[in-house]
Amino acid sequence: VAGDGAGPSEGDDLETLLGFIKEARGFDFTGYKRASLTRRIQKRMGEAGVTTYAEYRDLLEVRPAEYGDLFNTVLINVTGFLRDREAWDYLAQSTIPAVLGAKGTDEPVRVWSAGTASGEEAYSLAVLLCDAMGDDAFRRSVKIYATDIDEEALVTARHARYATKDLQAAFSPEQIARYFEPDSGLLAFRKDLRRSVIFGRHDLVQDPPIPRVDLLVCRNTLMYFNAETQRRILSNFHFALSPGGHLFLGKSEALVTRTNLFIVEDLRFHVFSKRNVDSRRIPPPPAVAGGRATPAPQTLIDAAFEISPLAQVAVNSDQVVVAANRHARAMFGIDLDQVGRPFKDLEVSYRPLELRSTLDQVLTDGRPVTISDVEFHPSTSVVDYLDIHLLPALAPNHKVVGAAITFASSGRFRALKEELERSQHELETAYEELQATVEELETTNEELQSTNEELETTNEELHSTNEELETMNEELQSTNEELETINNELRERSLELDAVNLFLESILGSLRFGVAVVNPQLSVSVWNRQAEDLWGVRSDEAQGQHFLNLDVGLPVDALKVPIRRCLSGESTVEHRHLDAVNRRGRPVTCDVTVIPQLSVGEVVGAIVIMDCEPEPSDPAPLR
Ligand SMILES: C[S@@+](CC[C@H](N)C(=O)[O-])C[C@H]1O[C@@H](n2cnc3c(N)ncnc32)[C@H](O)[C@@H]1O
Repeated sequence: VAGDGAGPSEGDDLETLLGFIKEARGFDFTGYKRASLTRRIQKRMGEAGVTTYAEYRDLLEVRPAEYGDLFNTVLINVTGFLRDREAWDYLAQSTIPAVLGAKGTDEPVRVWSAGTASGEEAYSLAVLLCDAMGDDAFRRSVKIYATDIDEEALVTARHARYATKDLQAAFSPEQIARYFEPDSGLLAFRKDLRRSVIFGRHDLVQDPPIPRVDLLVCRNTLMYFNAETQRRILSNFHFALSPGGHLFLGKSEALVTRTNLFIVEDLRFHVFSKRNVDSRRIPPPPAVAGGRATPAPQTLIDAAFEISPLAQVAVNSDQVVVAANRHARAMFGIDLDQVGRPFKDLEVSYRPLELRSTLDQVLTDGRPVTISDVEFHPSTSVVDYLDIHLLPALAPNHKVVGAAITFASSGRFRALKEELERSQHELETAYEELQATVEELETTNEELQSTNEELETTNEELHSTNEELETMNEELQSTNEELETINNELRERSLELDAVNLFLESILGSLRFGVAVVNPQLSVSVWNRQAEDLWGVRSDEAQGQHFLNLDVGLPVDALKVPIRRCLSGESTVEHRHLDAVNRRGRPVTCDVTVIPQLSVGEVVGAIVIMDCEPEPSDPAPLR
C-alpha cells in the first residue's frame, strides 16, 4: 500500500478493501497488479473526498452507486480500431488465412475477443474476416464472442455506433462504405453482419473459458494482472483453443513465452499457437551401429582398463575382486594384494556407500544399477560427488559371470549444473522483472491516455460552459441596455408628469372653491388647497380615504346620492345647498355641485365642487 503523505497510511489495508469488494459485488481485484490498482483506487478516493481505505469502504456501504464510479476508474477502457496497426496487418496477412485455410466450407469459425472494451476490437476482427471470406460466408460460419467484465463498455459495444473520425483513422474509405452505415450522426456497423458478433459479460479471473476457439484475441488486458493470475488465465486460454488455434496478445504481453503452453508464431506481433501437449513426440532412439568388431588383444584390453580415467573394480560371480584399475586403487586405497579377496573385505564395499547388497542384486538379476550423487570425502581433497554404476558382465549365453563397478566423479558437473540452474533462475527472475516493468509502463501509459481523454472531455465541458456563460453575459448586457432605455423613458415621463401635476395643482389651487375628486369606489384622489382651508383636513390626509368617511364639517352623507348618480351616468350635474360647520366651528352654508369626471367619454370618477359663503380670513392651524 502506498502510504505517501496525502494517501492512505500503511496500516490502512487495501487488501481488506479488495476482500470487501469481492464479497459485496463479486468483483475480484486481488489478482490485479498492485501499483496501478492502488493508483486507480486512490484516484477515485480523491474524487469521492475520502483519504483512507476504511473510509472508502464505509462510503461504498452507504452509497452503492459508488461501485459504478470505482469500476469505471479501475477498468481502463482505452481502445481503438486495429490498434497497433502493424500487428493487425500481420494478423490479416498470416493468421486469418491460416485459420480459414484449416477449415472446410461452412465449417464454423469461432473467434474470442477477451477484454474487448467498447467493441472496436471485435468489429476490427469482423471487418478483417469479412474482407478475407466475403459477407455470405462470414454470416454463415463466423461467430465472434466479444467479452468484457465492464457492463457499461459492453452497452456501447452493442450499440455499434462510432465517430467517423475514429473509423477513418483505421479503415480505408472502401471498408467504411462497405461495413458501416450512417446512424444519427455516427456510423454503425452493418446490422446483418453485426449478428455474428455476440457480446457478453465474462470475468477472465473467475469465469470458465469459451471452448473450441480458433482465434483468441486478448490485447492489453493481461498486463493489468500479476504474473500468477496471468499464468492462470493463459492456462484457460490453452484450454479454450482448438488444436492449432491461434492466440493474439498485446504488444507488451510476453509472459506467455514462459509457460510452455504455446508456440511462438511471431514474437514481434505477439501471435502464438496452441502447443498440443498430448501429441508431443518422443524423440526416436539413436540408431544402433551395425557390424561386428574384431576382438582386441587381451593385453590391450588390460592396459585400457588400467589407464581408464574412471575408477573401476571388477568382481566375479562369487563376489571376489578380480581387478581394480589404477584410478580405483588410488581413490579407495586398494592394494594390489587385495585383488583376489572377497569384495566385502574391501573398505570400498561399504564406504562411501553400502554396495554389498546392491552387488548381490546385480549379480542375481543381471540388471545394471546406477546410484547418483553419492557424497565422497577423499582424504586429500575437498568433498566430491560420485555416480556409481554397477554393471553385470554377461557371458555369450547371457549368464552373469561377474560385475563391473565404476565410480565417476560428478562433482564438477554437479557444480556446473547448479551454477547453470542459478544463472537460469536469475535470468528468469530478471526476465519476469523486465516483463513486469514493461507491462507496468504500458498500463501507466494507458492510464495516462485515459486521464488525458478525461481531461479533454473536462476541457470541452469547460469550453462549452464558458460559451454558455458568454452567451448569458451577452443576453444580460442587452437586457441591461433595454432597461436603461426604459429607465430613461420613465425619467422623461416622470418629469413630464411632474410638470403636468404642477400645472394641475396650480389650476386647482387657483380656484375659489374647494374641490374634491373621487374614484368609482368613492376614494378621494384630489383635495385642493381651498378644501384644506374649508375643512381643516390636509390633502395627504384626505387622499385615499373614502369620501363618506371624511371627518369634516360638511354633511358628506348628503352627497352620497348625487355622487352615485354622477358615477352611474344617471346625471351630468347635481346641486345641493347644505348647512355645514367650517374648520373654525362656525356654521356656513355651502353650494355643492357634483359633476362626472370624464376620460375619453367614460365616467372615471366624480368631481365635488364646494362653494361656501366667504369667511373673514383668519388663519387657523390645520388639523
Ligand atoms: C485497455 S482495455 C483493452 C481493450 C482492447 N482489448 C484493446 O486492446 O484495445 C482493457 C479491458 O480489459 C477489461 N478487463 C479488466 N479486467 C477484466 C476481467 N477480469 N475480465 C474481463 N475483462 C477485464 C477492462 O474492462 C477493459 O475493457
